[in-house]
Amino acid sequence: MRDNMTKSALSHKAERFTESVIREMTRLAQIHGAVNLAQGFPDFEAPKEIKEAACQAIMADINQYAITWGSKSFRNAIAAKAGQHMGLEVDPEREITVTCGSTEAMIATLLAVVNPGDEVIIFEPFYENYGPDTILSGAIPRFVPLRPPDWTFDLEELERAFTSRTRAIIINTPNNPTGKVFSRQELQDIADLCRKWDVLAITDEIYEHIVYDGHVHTPIVTLDGMRDRTITINALSKTYSVTGWRVGFVIASPQLTQGIRKVHDFLTVGAPAPLQEAGARALAMPRGYYTELAAGYQRKRDLLLHALRAAGFDCSTPYGAYYIMAGFGALSPLNDTDFTRYLVKDIGIAVVPGSSFFHEPERGSGYVRFCFCKKDSTLQSASERLQRIHLNQ
Ligand SMILES: Cc1ncc(COP(=O)(O)O)c(C=O)c1O
Repeated sequence: MRDNMTKSALSHKAERFTESVIREMTRLAQIHGAVNLAQGFPDFEAPKEIKEAACQAIMADINQYAITWGSKSFRNAIAAKAGQHMGLEVDPEREITVTCGSTEAMIATLLAVVNPGDEVIIFEPFYENYGPDTILSGAIPRFVPLRPPDWTFDLEELERAFTSRTRAIIINTPNNPTGKVFSRQELQDIADLCRKWDVLAITDEIYEHIVYDGHVHTPIVTLDGMRDRTITINALSKTYSVTGWRVGFVIASPQLTQGIRKVHDFLTVGAPAPLQEAGARALAMPRGYYTELAAGYQRKRDLLLHALRAAGFDCSTPYGAYYIMAGFGALSPLNDTDFTRYLVKDIGIAVVPGSSFFHEPERGSGYVRFCFCKKDSTLQSASERLQRIHLNQ
């Protein structure tokens, strides 16, 4: 017989957030046999040379714990790539922590640098995880809106969000879900405020190589005075199409890295050892790999964007990452959750309701998010299904 517990089963923190809507949509897609344009993972093959490097590492018996903050070869590769691509000199011994994806990188960072009650500025809409991350770390989020169609922020509004209680600002560029690529001037404005208020910039740059139409990704760490107050988060997940490997990393000053490494060690001990060896191979890919990656995604973006606009969605063009925030006001009076349910059940496409990216759900109720990191045939099939929306109205 089971005994009922009298005390509350869950902690106050765990009670304050819900299951991930994005991951739930992937499960719903499977149940309804829908095309999954919800969760941002590729349905095509990962690069062959990287997979081979992973197999070789396993066969060479690199199967035990790596050094908790990352294998030497992988950290060296991260430092070398930061030098080549960002012009940044990074000490692999003291400034890099390898984590289980950028997901762990973000929570380990927040737990290491934020005290309960500290304020953290977050641009909204934001990648879903940042909400629970602030709750788990005890941070108080201060949201600053990015407004369509360009998803720009108002500088005065941002200035008002900074106070003596602000510990950090979270930046995600190129941005999920909006596709915004923060301009150099916008990042300069953010950097100026960080310096003025002695605030850390925590920047999630997991889509750094996925930029379109000549847009350029600027790492905020390279701006004047930002080297020691920036924590740069990245991962193999999106750049090398290996979201299931769970390998990410954090670049930060030695002082900050010390704290991040301690938290990381007790959260996970370490990231998968053989996949770090394969990661070293991945980071050594020639420049052409990144150009092709972006060009391939730009084509996919155009394919889906065209289909969405033809079906009556209102979308601004994303200049980076692989998502489209699509307004559906002209198509349906439903709210985002009901419209998402309709799309997955009746149309056969899984998407993410816009409210998942806002702290006040109503703000996202007119949007759904589509991802386009899929085979052309998957996008084609989604495009055909999108045409049925009119037939159903
Ligand atoms: C902005 C952003 N950060 C982090 C992640 C998760 O990255 P990882 O798989 O490396 O944990 C995602 C995944 O969609 C993302 O869009």
